[in-house]
Order: sequence, then structure tokens, then C-alpha cells
Amino acid sequence: MNNFEFYNPTRIVFGEGKIAELDRLIPADAKVLILFGGQSARKTGTLDEVEQALGQRQFGLFGGIEPNPRYETLMEAVEKVSAEGYDYLLAVGGGSVIDGTKFVAAAAKYDGDAWDILTSMGGKVEAALPFGAVLTLPATGSEMNKGSVVTRESMQAKLPFMSELVFPQFSVLDPVKTYTLPIRQVGNGAVDAFVHVVEQYLTYPANAPVQDRFAEGLLQTLVELGPQALEIPEDYNVRASLMWTATLALNGLIGVGVPQDWSTHMLGHELTALHGLDHAQTLAVVLPAMLNEKFEQKQAKLAQFAERVWHIDQGSEAEKAQQAIEKTRDFFERMNVKTRMSDYDLDATAIEPLIESLTQHGMTQLGEHGDVTPDVCRRVLQAAL
Ligand code: NZQ
Ligand code: ZN
Repeated sequence: MNNFEFYNPTRIVFGEGKIAELDRLIPADAKVLILFGGQSARKTGTLDEVEQALGQRQFGLFGGIEPNPRYETLMEAVEKVSAEGYDYLLAVGGGSVIDGTKFVAAAAKYDGDAWDILTSMGGKVEAALPFGAVLTLPATGSEMNKGSVVTRESMQAKLPFMSELVFPQFSVLDPVKTYTLPIRQVGNGAVDAFVHVVEQYLTYPANAPVQDRFAEGLLQTLVELGPQALEIPEDYNVRASLMWTATLALNGLIGVGVPQDWSTHMLGHELTALHGLDHAQTLAVVLPAMLNEKFEQKQAKLAQFAERVWHIDQGSEAEKAQQAIEKTRDFFERMNVKTRMSDYDLDATAIEPLIESLTQHGMTQLGEHGDVTPDVCRRVLQAAL
């Protein structure tokens, strides 16, 4: 196991009805800006519940944060914060709203050009407004991590940043709030959480059995409960476990002391930036092809994944590893997330612009060995057609 430091200050307040706790969680004298997405928070009644919980506090609203939050929109929120003097932010939504709020929190306290926050991958963040979150879509783990991904449409760039200053102070996780999710987002959420675990687990053996067993437990839970959530949307226990699984998949815990990959995510971000695929759709397209491409390097861990997650106990190590990749693709398809570029009307002509964009963003040495170069990514995309 590698040396590590683990820090996670986010308080999780979990369970039905817990939005009422906002009154306790947010300072009584805070002037709060509530940030949300399109229509879902209002339509489902979650926004009303939040407003009620804020009691006598002064608050304002900023709606319209889109999926894959746009820099241009978020800068309007930054303007509003400074024009109206908010000192506390509250994100109500999925990963996009929470990521967007993280950016607004950092940008509101940044003196220079806020785009620096992204080009420095968060290195330039020295202060941020405090904020909390009410999560409505389990998927990204943003509710309990220090990462955020922002898209600048005019540059066709989707870039991540990280800073300890943008951990949410708290996140409220009420599984009932996920009952209204469209099927497409239920599938997306399970696939995203699955790939988060895989990026931290499917590398090479690192003498970290507890991280491995945590990871395998989360993967098994997603495989077992993901399809159930598609079938019976209002099963509290299924939703509760999926919600907590998605949080644990990317709150830093399973990734300590082990090598990490993230090449599927970085290549996936280019597919969203250039072609607008949902984040999870990009992962479902890239991951099986990436695992095949890196088969030899990953074979030992793939075989362990085959045995412990998919219960494959017949065949050689290579045969088990191959079957595990096929099972993974089947799982994504079962969650209604398609796994081929052609499923999204993309053909070979899409590949070169994606590789150019990846290179331009400096994503040229990806993966746990830093050897996933643009040439490797080109082969991955060709195999994913
Ligand atoms: O906009 P509204 O109307 O609110 O609708 C949203 C949106 O259209 C809807 N939705 C959310 N909760 C709902 C609901 N509809 C009905 N009932 C509810 N309870 O779902 C749609 C998608 O929402 P979005 O927030 O975009 O989805 P997700 O949570 O999957 O977030 C995706 C974003 O997170 C980034 C992705 O790149 C993408 O930009 N990621 C963030 C990470 C992080 N911070 O650590 C890691 C991830 O790998 C990922 O990159
Ligand atoms: Zn993801």
C-alpha cells in the first residue's frame, strides 16, 4: 500500500425528511443563494421544502444550471453573488448543480480571471464561500468530494478542478428525492458510480486488500440494486443503498494508498464537450474498449474482479478477465446505457477531433502508468465504434 493522507470534512445528513435539518446546518445569520438546475427541483417540490427549511434567513435563487454546467452560466451566478452580497451557497440538484456551486464558491473569492481556476486544475484557489448541498441524483460523488467539472462552450472544453476549499460543509441525502428521476438518469447514475470505483480499483495489485474489498462491495451493490431501481422506482431501501454507494464510490476513501487510472473519464469528457453525450454514456462507451486495450497490464486485477464481483470461477486468468469485461458491458446495457459510439450516431470521422482536443487539454499521459497516450486513445475509440 502506498503512503497517503485522508481528509474529508463533509458532514452527511442521510434519510427521509432530512431537508428540514437545513435550519440547523446553515448559520442563522447567513444570506443564502440557492443554486439549482432546470425544472426538476421546482417541479418535485424539493425547492419549496428547502425554502421552508431556511426559515427566517434571507435567501435568493439562481436557477438554470445545465447538465455539464457551463462556465458562462456560472459566471452569471458569480455576478449575482457579488451584486447581492450572499455569504453562503446551497446547491439543490445533481452533480452538475453541485459542481457548478463549487466553481461559483471559488470564483466569487477569486481576484483574477476565473478561468484560471480550471486551467490550474484548482491550484490557484485560495479561498471559497462556504456551501452545502441537497443531493437529488446519486451518481457523481460531488456531494462529498473536492472535485468539480466545468464546461466552457465557446472553447469546447470540459475541464476538472480540485480544491480542499470546495468540499461541501454538509450534504443532505434523502433517498425519497430520487424517486422522480427519469430512467435515463437512474441508469447514468449507476454507471457513473460503477466507473468511479473501477478507475480506483482496476489497475494492478497494490497490497491494499481493504480498499479492494470496499471497492468490490460497492460494485456488487450496484450490480445487484441498479436493475432493481429501474424496475421499482419507489423502493426506499434500494434507493437508499444506491445513494450511499454512489457517495462512497468517490469520496476519496477507496482510492487512498492505491494506483488510480481515470483515463476513461478524461477521454469521456472530450466526448461530452464535442458531442454532448451524457457523462455516463461516455464512460459506457470508453471503459470496455479501454479495458481491452490495457488488458495485459490489468489482467491480474481483471481476474480478481471476475471472481469476486461476477463470481466467474472457471477458466484461465485471461479467460476470466475477458469475461469480466463482457459482463461489465452487459451491465451497462442492462442499465439502459449504450456502449458503442455508433449507438450515439458517431462514426470514425469523430475520432481525430476528439484526439486533437484531448491533446490540446494536455491529457497525453493518462492511466495508472501514464502510458495512455493520444495514440492509445485513438485505438480505444476505434474499438468503441
Ligand atoms: O436540470 P434539472 O431540471 O434539475 O434536471 C436534472 C438534469 O436534467 C435531472 N434531475 C436531477 N435530479 C432529479 C432530476 N430529475 C428528476 N428528479 C430528480 N430528483 O437530471 C439531469 C442530470 O443532472 P446532472 O446533475 O447533470 O447529472 P449528474 O449528477 O450525473 O452530474 C453530471 C455532471 O457531474 C460531473 C459530470 O462530468 C457532469 O458534468 N462529474 C462530477 C464529478 C465530481 N464532482 O466528482 C465526478 C464525475 O466523474 C463527473 O465528471
Ligand atoms: Zn464520473
